[in-house]
Amino acid sequence: MKSSAIAHSNIALIKYWGNWNKVSPELNIPLNDSVSMTKYGFSQNTHLQTHTTIEFSEDFKENKAILNDNLLKGRDMERILKIINALKKLKKIDYKFKMISFNDFPTQAGLASSAAGFAALTIAAAKALNLDLSQEELSTFARLGSGSAARSIHGGFVYWYRGTSHETSYAEQICGPNNFDVNAIIAIIDEGKKDVSSDLGHELANTSIFNTLRVKKSHEQADEIKAAILDDDFNKFGTIAENNCMFMHSVMMTSEPALFYWSPLTLRVIKKVLNIRKAENLDCFFTIDAGPNVHCLCRPENTEYIQNMLAKIEGIEKTILVKPANDSYTTNEHLF
Ligand code: DP6
Repeated sequence: MKSSAIAHSNIALIKYWGNWNKVSPELNIPLNDSVSMTKYGFSQNTHLQTHTTIEFSEDFKENKAILNDNLLKGRDMERILKIINALKKLKKIDYKFKMISFNDFPTQAGLASSAAGFAALTIAAAKALNLDLSQEELSTFARLGSGSAARSIHGGFVYWYRGTSHETSYAEQICGPNNFDVNAIIAIIDEGKKDVSSDLGHELANTSIFNTLRVKKSHEQADEIKAAILDDDFNKFGTIAENNCMFMHSVMMTSEPALFYWSPLTLRVIKKVLNIRKAENLDCFFTIDAGPNVHCLCRPENTEYIQNMLAKIEGIEKTILVKPANDSYTTNEHLF
């Protein structure tokens, strides 16, 4: 009962921010539909993915989870157990487990490491337990660990329906990685752990008077961006993604207490992107998750130029080119 999986992180294009807690806060049912691109990084040692091996055995006396050589406890272990307990219930067994996991990129730095992590855990655990689940069903279990992980099960461009129950809050693929030609360049500003967890951020979302409006608008924009992807309309796609990002950050900045994920350098990168677009008439757009790092979206033919421009900004630690990834997958390469 041992299996391994590799899962990719994703960048949200229509953001998930805030949970709908009417059924249960444990379920991570979001307030609005969201859309993302699953990403594969082209940097020497960084593909922005998580590799996880898990084994269940009746001989194990306790659960053990290790991420990047660190034993996980507290909230981290709780999130893992939410997925594992739900899958074990389905299989009707109660064995303990051992899990070893490696992220090839910084953990909890606003680069969606938990999305990749919980997607890899779900895929590996479902296989180890010999559960025959569809991609959509897998996404519901990944969601229990971290909402955005629901989207990382699929490759390419992904739509997560908010739903109103465990079963109806799932993610499905809009189109595969080769059906819409987009690159993203991540301008890395800070790879350190973020100050405020997304958990707390989700709780604070509704303290902003703008959140109701953001939720309403996000539903519309999720439909619109899906259409733009299927119509291969990059300009519309980027315009909507950038706009939706600003809605989420406006909500963050007007929460009580206010959350500021940006650093001064974040704003400098935003201005650079706007400048490249206006002055050079080049289609590029920015989006930012819960951290200071900026993703710049562009067509592949403009990538090299834009990457050079971003790398020149003083203070940018590095840039990472990312392209749409394939589905996350199981592998026979076990970590123990
Ligand atoms: C801003 O609760 O999925 O990235 O568990 O910290 O990875 P972590 O986050 P999660 O919230 C993600 C928030 C977001 C927007 C998004 O991915 O839609």
